[in-house]
This record gives sequence, C-alpha cells and structure tokens, in this order.
Amino acid sequence: MASSPIVELIREKLDIIEIVREYVPSLKRAGRNYKANCPFHNEKTPSFTVNPDKKIFFCFGCSSGGDIFKFVMDIEGLSFPEAVRKLALKAGVEYGDERAHHISPEDKERLDLKKLMTAAAAFYHKALFSPAGEKARLYLGERRLSKTTVEKFELGWAPAGGSAMMEELQAKGWSSDLALKAGLITEREGGRVADTFRGRIMFPIRNQSGETIAFGGRVLDPEGIPKYLNSPETPLFSKRKTLYGLHEALPQIRRTGRLLLLEGYMDVIGAHQHGVDWAVAPLGTNLTLEHSGIIRRYAKDTVVMFDDDRAGIQASVKAAETFMESGLYVRLASLDNGLDPDEYLNEHGREEFEKKLAAAADPLDFRMNLFFKNKPSPTAQEKAQAIALLLETVARQGDEILKSEWVKNLATRFGVEQDSVLKQLRKTALALPREAPRKQAPPLAMPQMEKGYIQLLLRDPALIEQSSALEPEDFSSPLARTLFAALRALPPEARPKAPAALAQQYPEHSSLVLELAVTDLGGPDASAGRDAAGAVRMLKRFSAERRLKELKALPSMDPQQLQEYSRLMLELKSSVKDR
Ligand code: GTP
Ligand code: MN
Repeated sequence: MASSPIVELIREKLDIIEIVREYVPSLKRAGRNYKANCPFHNEKTPSFTVNPDKKIFFCFGCSSGGDIFKFVMDIEGLSFPEAVRKLALKAGVEYGDERAHHISPEDKERLDLKKLMTAAAAFYHKALFSPAGEKARLYLGERRLSKTTVEKFELGWAPAGGSAMMEELQAKGWSSDLALKAGLITEREGGRVADTFRGRIMFPIRNQSGETIAFGGRVLDPEGIPKYLNSPETPLFSKRKTLYGLHEALPQIRRTGRLLLLEGYMDVIGAHQHGVDWAVAPLGTNLTLEHSGIIRRYAKDTVVMFDDDRAGIQASVKAAETFMESGLYVRLASLDNGLDPDEYLNEHGREEFEKKLAAAADPLDFRMNLFFKNKPSPTAQEKAQAIALLLETVARQGDEILKSEWVKNLATRFGVEQDSVLKQLRKTALALPREAPRKQAPPLAMPQMEKGYIQLLLRDPALIEQSSALEPEDFSSPLARTLFAALRALPPEARPKAPAALAQQYPEHSSLVLELAVTDLGGPDASAGRDAAGAVRMLKRFSAERRLKELKALPSMDPQQLQEYSRLMLELKSSVKDR
C-alpha cells in the first residue's frame, strides 16, 4: 500500500469520525476517542475505538484496525484503489486513472472481475429485450413488474442456447480464465466449457456500492431445477455477506433506520416497486451473523417477514434469533393465506401490507401467537413443552430489561408462576451453546517501561526529538527496537500520523501499534513514561544494567570490554545522582 500525495491529501481532508459514522451511527464520544459496538465482529459492549486526531480505528475485541482507507476497504469489501477512489469523491479530490497508482495483482483481478460482471449484466439485460427474450418478458409481465422496475434492478435473460455468453465474452476479448473465475462459464463433463446460466431470468446481485458482483438466475420452465441458481463464491462474492437489494434500499434505511428483511429476490423487487423501498433479502441462505452485522450498522428497527409457509416461519424465527444474538432489536411480521410478500402486495396493495408490518410482534410474542393459534386451550403438558421451547428464544435475548419483560409476558400468557419460568430459564440458558470466545490480541512481549515509552512516542511523536540519547539497542524487546527505529526514521512531516504509518509499514504489528495509540496511558509503569525525559533516562539505565550483567557474566574481559564496563559504571552512578 504505497502512500501517494493524493492519498495523503484525502486523509488530510476527511474526518474519520464522519466517515465511520456513516456505517456505525452509534459512534459516541469517550474521552479522546469515540466508541461503538464493533462493525467487524459481534459484541454487546463497545470495544471499537476511533481516534480522530490520529485518524485511526482499532477494536480491542477483534484487533481489527487501521486508517480511514483500511476502514472503508474492510467494511465495503473494496480494494485499496477502490477505497481511495470512493474517499477521493467524498473529499472532493480529483482522482485520475487508477493505473497511475500502485495496484496489487489481487486488486487488479478484482477490478477486472467487476468490469466483467458489469459487462455480463449488460449482456443479459440486452438479451431480455431481444426477440429471444420474449417469453421472459411475458413472464415478468405476469409477475406484474413494470419496465421501470426491470430497469432499476437491471433484470435480464440468459439465453437457453448454451454458449451465447461465452461467445460474447470471447468476441469482446475477455479471457476464459477470468470468466471461469467469475462463474459466468463452467467446465462441464469432458472438459467442455459452457455458459453457467441458461434459460434463466437473471438478477444481478450488487454490493453495497451498486456494483454487480454475482448473479441469481430463476428458471422459466416450471419443471426446471434448481429453481434458483446463484453464482459460485468468487473473490468478489460471498453469499454469507451479501444482502440482495441493499444498495437500492440504503438511502431509505439510512433516513428512517428501519429495514425490512424478506425471503427472496422477487419479494424485494416487488416491495420496491410498491414503494416499500427499505426491503432486502439474504440469498437463499439462512441469515448469517455477517448479515446481522451489516444490518446493525444501518438499522435500528428491523422487521423480518418471510413467506407464510412452514419453512418461511421457521426461517424467520431462526433469523430473529441470529439478530437477537448480535444485540439487534427485531420484530417478526406475517401474512395470511400462505401468500408471499410479493403476491400480497399485488393483491392487497401497500397500505394493507404496511398494516401487517406495523403489527409485527417481538420474537417471543410471535412464537406465542403461533402456539395459541394452533392450540387455543393447551393441556398442562403441552404448556410445559411449549414454554421449554419458547425459553430458548428468551435465553437468546441479550437485553436484560427485555428479557425480564418477556419472562413476565410468558408467565401471564400461559397462566403460570413467574418464579418457575425463571428457574426453567436458568436451565435453558445453561444448555445453550456458548458464544465463541473472542479472538485475543497477540501477547505483548514488551516490558511495561518500553511499551509505555513507545506509546508515548506514538501519541506524541514530536517527543522523538528528545530521544537522541537512546539507540534501538537500548530496548530489550526486539519489537520495541523495531518500532523505535521506525519512529525515528519518520520524516518530521509524517510524524502526526505515525500510528497509521507504522501500522502500514509493519502489518504484523499493526494491532499493537494501533492499540497503543488509542489506549489511555495508565498503570504505574506507563505513568512513569509521562515524563519523556525521565523515561529516556530510565531506559538508558536499564539498558546499562543489562549490559553490565552480560559483561560480568563473561569468563574474562578484553581491554575494549573493560573500557565499556567502566564507562557504563560511571554512567549508572551519574544517572542515579541525576534523579
Ligand atoms: P418466485 O417463486 O419466483 O416468487 O421466487 P421466490 O423469491 O418467492 O422464491 P421462493 O419463495 O421459492 O424462495 C425464496 C428464496 O430462496 C429465493 O429468492 C432464492 O433466493 C432462494 N431459493 C429458492 N429456491 C432455490 C433453489 O433452488 N436454489 C437456491 N440456491 N436458492 C433458492
Ligand atoms: Mn417466495
């Protein structure tokens, strides 16, 4: 990651707090730093820290950290040049051709893949409006999709033939290696290569920035299997981390903080067409913790509404539990008559649909409603069994206030003692699988005094001026030596952003560097380091003592060593007098 003047200019102009807050609205001031729940791992108490002066972020929970570019790369899944381009726009900095900047081979491939996917989406879209796309157009018409909607989601048609896509790509000069990697063509039996998607309605899957990163394809032929075919996982696309419709829904979600999670492509598209433009969907998988992590960045109020069938209801309860585990507030809504959201909207319109959303219940009420709908007057045993199951939902509620409300509601609704519900809850909680332990930060192999001094320099790099008496060898820890040498080598103008610069220079030590830079100085030894000059003297003394010990341990000293010995003894005496 070579730093260029333009990169520095962008960093200079942007406020890291403002940028981070776009993704992490809950960012709050805490002393010199800002804190929030980490967007990169699941947690209930904030360990994600942003330092506005140093323009860096660091998470004490998962050790992710870096500068403003690293943040945008990680949160949006972008390469460095893409993050630079994005931030250049925000900073109002002219950013020319990315070729003028350093690009790694992986970044180059990702950029090429994106270009290829964009070209493929255009090809499918054009095919939809070609004579061969007539049946597909008719089908979309039957599903009551307007031309505007088809354009907005750039729906397309993958010709049935077998190699139309491949021929197009070849004609346009794309390599088949890249097309294979993108999952647009697939190797079949006998080493023959053919189009992956054939005879399917194509749904471009976009990332948060609106770039096409994959496709979903739905069969036209009702007998065709599978009904939906997705692109394979590629360097661009991970279905665990992708939500269909997020790019289109984000403006509205950001405005209102509410998000609607639906089950499939058609539901999202139908919802948007009816003006319910805060709807997104996972890609035919269970909702993952990665998904809920993304959702938590933007939404305060999430409603899950899956199809009104057994599978849909089960999946929505499961999704709600995933949300709850990551500390998200979520409600469940359902439709009746076994309708899909898409079908429901077409039959009853937006107003009725929004009534269903407004009637969304919290996960416990939702499950209790279901139970009593099926069993209006349960026996004692049926009650006990139901409560045992429902308590699994209660146990997953991370909010203690809500949890105790739920216990009350449950007891009231089933007509049982709150005390016995509580007792049963404790048993249930014990039986639940434990949260995975946090990834621990690597052990710090530096003596406190050395660590304290390095921290002092990271936070106030101008102090390096007062360190002329010190040499890297005066530190006992190799890591402290490395960092000290690197700090001293920084040109004065690079000093203000020393933590980011060092983190970039030594990626393997970046967590430690960033952690030191954002942590408040504390502890008896580190506080000694508040006095930089005093710290230099102490480090010098420790260093002399260590060296003396080494010399004394020698079987015999040569004249040079003897000289060093007496010099160190003198130094030690005077340093003790100085204090
Ligand atoms: P329509 O039948 O066209 O209305 O689509 P739908 O979105 O209502 O589909 P359905 O309710 O059957 O499934 C919901 C979602 O599950 C779909 O949008 C897909 O993401 C996913 N899905 C359904 N069937 C398949 C399949 O055969 N393979 C894969 N990979 N995903 C599927
Ligand atoms: Mn459906």
